[in-house]
Amino acid sequence: MSKVTVFGSFVVDLMARTPHLPVPGETVKGGMFKMGPGGKGFNQCVAAHKAGADATMITKLGRDTFAGVALSAMDELKMNKDRILYSDDVETGAALIMVDENSSQNEIVVVLGSCNTITDAEVESIADQLEQSEYLLTQLETNVSATRKVISLAKDLGVKVILNTAPVQEVEDAIYNGLYMITPNEVEAEILTGIVIDSKENADKAADWFFSKGVENVIITLGGRGVYVATAEKREIIPAYTVKALDTTGAGDAFNGGLVAALSEGKDIWQAVNFANALAAISVQRLGTTPAMPWREEILDFMKNN
Ligand code: ATP
Ligand code: RIB
Repeated sequence: MSKVTVFGSFVVDLMARTPHLPVPGETVKGGMFKMGPGGKGFNQCVAAHKAGADATMITKLGRDTFAGVALSAMDELKMNKDRILYSDDVETGAALIMVDENSSQNEIVVVLGSCNTITDAEVESIADQLEQSEYLLTQLETNVSATRKVISLAKDLGVKVILNTAPVQEVEDAIYNGLYMITPNEVEAEILTGIVIDSKENADKAADWFFSKGVENVIITLGGRGVYVATAEKREIIPAYTVKALDTTGAGDAFNGGLVAALSEGKDIWQAVNFANALAAISVQRLGTTPAMPWREEILDFMKNN
């Protein structure tokens, strides 16, 4: 099994379930509140780690109580804390998440705090970690300069870079060029390419757009419908597992963590997508983000029985 580096955000998720999402000016009495570790980077690293990957998390925490939420979760899950960065003056961030308990739709405000202040020098300080990794998995939830720097460093070192384009924002051509894989959801794919992902033909067009930018493999997640996958050889829609979703917050994170875990074990892209679909299908049946990620045995059992 090869090593994986996950570079990205950690924030504390403050999650409320509510009978309906409030309109501006409205106060709604929520049904339930939960606080726990979150942030797209952290969720993806936990998903990969619990799925059996040798995954190391790189993020930047403050020196505060919220940082303790990350560190104790990492202790509990026996994750590698050696490469965590710290800010002495910016606090750890938080995400305010509201989930509609009927539709399971969510609204999120994320305040990134310390993980939005990663300097180029701090990225350079993890070069030895990247050098030992076959894959770098990263997102767009840390400061853009750090994302740009870590992707360029990883490419220079011959690491395969997987970019999950969430939360969506403009991506420079230099970032696209040489990516091993890009994993937008359908909304992100539309925003990035200008092509509405409402058919296989249009997904093919979006894949061509990413290929023309120098991306090697394209995966567009389609929620409960599964994923569109395009490699140089083949393009297909792989359906999701049929389950009753309770909370889909972090489904994309579950999928990306599972994908990189399976790839790092030597699985091909199609096998890795199947594993990631199973991991994500289990996670959407559970509440929360990081806490919803299943262990490897649960994923293998689920795949055997479904
Ligand atoms: P989020 O932003 O909520 O984290 P996302 O929009 O990035 O999620 P989705 O495309 O909604 O990601 O979902 C990612 C993957 O999770 C899907 O490709 C699928 O494998 C799985 N998934 C999501 N919703 C469901 C569902 N209702 N049933 C089964 N699998 C699901
Ligand atoms: O993808 C879900 C994550 O996005 C949540 O954990 C929250 O922290 C937000 O950043």
